[in-house]
Amino acid sequence: MTDITLQHNRIASSVLELIGNTPIVDISQLSPNPKVGLYIKLEGQNPGGSVKDRVALSMIQDAEAKGQIKPGSVLIEPSSGNTGIGMALICRVKGYKLKVVMPTNVSKERRDLLKIWGAEIIESPAAEGSNGAVKMARKIAADHPEWVFLYQYANQANPKAHFETTGPEILRDLPNITHFVAGLGTSGTLLGVGSYLKQEKPDVQIWAVEPPAGEMVDGLRNLDDGYIPPIFLDNNGPLLLDRKTVVGPRDSIIWTKKLAEVGIFAGISTGAALAGAIKCANLIDTGTILIVSPDAGWKYLSSEIWTLDIDEAVLRAQSTIYF
Ligand SMILES: Cc1ncc(COP(=O)(O)O)c(C=O)c1O
Repeated sequence: MTDITLQHNRIASSVLELIGNTPIVDISQLSPNPKVGLYIKLEGQNPGGSVKDRVALSMIQDAEAKGQIKPGSVLIEPSSGNTGIGMALICRVKGYKLKVVMPTNVSKERRDLLKIWGAEIIESPAAEGSNGAVKMARKIAADHPEWVFLYQYANQANPKAHFETTGPEILRDLPNITHFVAGLGTSGTLLGVGSYLKQEKPDVQIWAVEPPAGEMVDGLRNLDDGYIPPIFLDNNGPLLLDRKTVVGPRDSIIWTKKLAEVGIFAGISTGAALAGAIKCANLIDTGTILIVSPDAGWKYLSSEIWTLDIDEAVLRAQSTIYF
């Protein structure tokens, strides 16, 4: 006998209705401190496979409401990651065209997903990373004012998605939360969830996880690397974050593999967030920490981090953008 309970599930009228309301799992067995509970919110359960489905939907709905997107519109976005995939899914469902600018060294899984939903890929130089993709997309958008440039790094609908959905879901499902730990990419997750939690429960501590300056952990950026997302400054980012902690590729991979040992198959930036949460658990006496898992491991399979030894896995993960 299994203990699967039959629950009432309604039928969605569109796949877009399945965005959000992701589950939280207790992973306190990984906590180094028996008085600190550890929980993970699995954003990989979204239909496009990541937390960015929320952001893509929020930005597109906002632009529709403002009359910026109309039937047949062409959208352009720099994304070496999940935002492009979320936007491709939503544009396909809604009938818009999407062009995604991304570095040449992104993984095959990533390209294939964009192609499945009909997005066009424009390549930017691998050596310039995601900053290079941003630069190229801004130039193309300036040359084509008729195209819609939503630009997640400066779009208030990005943190708003998390303020209105991710944050309330967390407090609903984990009312005892004391610490929120998440990776910093565009900073949308930290800003939106962080400001919602501080508004409702001012004692909650907000911890950001960054890669070391100049090093890469898929999906994450170090604010000292030369680009501070405009949304970060517009939303009082420096005041909102209680603490920033640096986690490198090696620890990110080690903790991604540890998660698999408790049955959770997550992407590499989840391992970074978990490594940050472990540091947090070691520093506090008691508490309840929640981390966001931005995506599942599927898109990183060709990195082979789950089967290679750690030194080879770190080398491999440095040469390709996997998220
Ligand atoms: C895999 C992954 N992890 C983490 C992040 C960071 O999230 P945010 O942009 O909300 O800071 C991203 C964002 O692109 C991502 O794709």
